[in-house]
Amino acid sequence: MNIPLVAPSVLSGDFTDMGTSLDTISRAGADWVHLDIMDGHFVPPITFGPHMVSAVRKRTQLILDTHLMVDNPTALVDDFITAGTDYLTFHIEAVVHAHRLIQYIRDQNVRPGIAIVPSTPVSAVKEVLPMVDLLLIMTVNPGYGGQELIPACLRKVEEAVALRRDLGADFLIEADGGIQEATAPDARRAGVDVMISGSAFFSAQDPAAFVTTLKGVSGHIA
Ligand code: DX5
Ligand code: ZN
Repeated sequence: MNIPLVAPSVLSGDFTDMGTSLDTISRAGADWVHLDIMDGHFVPPITFGPHMVSAVRKRTQLILDTHLMVDNPTALVDDFITAGTDYLTFHIEAVVHAHRLIQYIRDQNVRPGIAIVPSTPVSAVKEVLPMVDLLLIMTVNPGYGGQELIPACLRKVEEAVALRRDLGADFLIEADGGIQEATAPDARRAGVDVMISGSAFFSAQDPAAFVTTLKGVSGHIA
């Protein structure tokens, strides 16, 4: 079993003190910073936009993983690319021409990702999986932190692992929503490569210990 990367979501960080939230992420030994962009249409809440991503870019060396939960990602990708994100993921449910948008993102030297909500099967993205660097599988319905993981979504992770092998592709599989100490072992067993965690990470007493727990390496690191 691979040791997964951990990507805390600043959605559950302190919006009045994002710098400290980023310091918490890097001091905890987490790998990426997950940035949840919500537009009030694709999902009801509105979070933040490219200005925040650009400010975060200036503040941390960590990999930035931007998750667009927006209705019209095609109109917005340029702003997030300019802001300096490393990965840029949009939802298959929000676009018709996913193939073209993925290619466009890659042409700008940014790593493209594709995301699916719980009601969307992995087969819906099969044609574009060889083109992406990341498949984000929502393990809750998007829009809010602090929800419970939907176990059936982990079966989609297993399916994606098998499909990746069959396609000879090499995208990372990310699980987003409801990842905490109790759900991480099942997520690791299913084959998750990148664990996103918002509320559980930011409410942990010891964020560094929380990260090693998610990775399944607690006790092996001094
Ligand atoms: C939900 C977001 C998630 C969220 C995860 O729409 O995409 O990234 O921050 O939060 P938790 O870990 O609290 O479920
Ligand atoms: Zn997310």
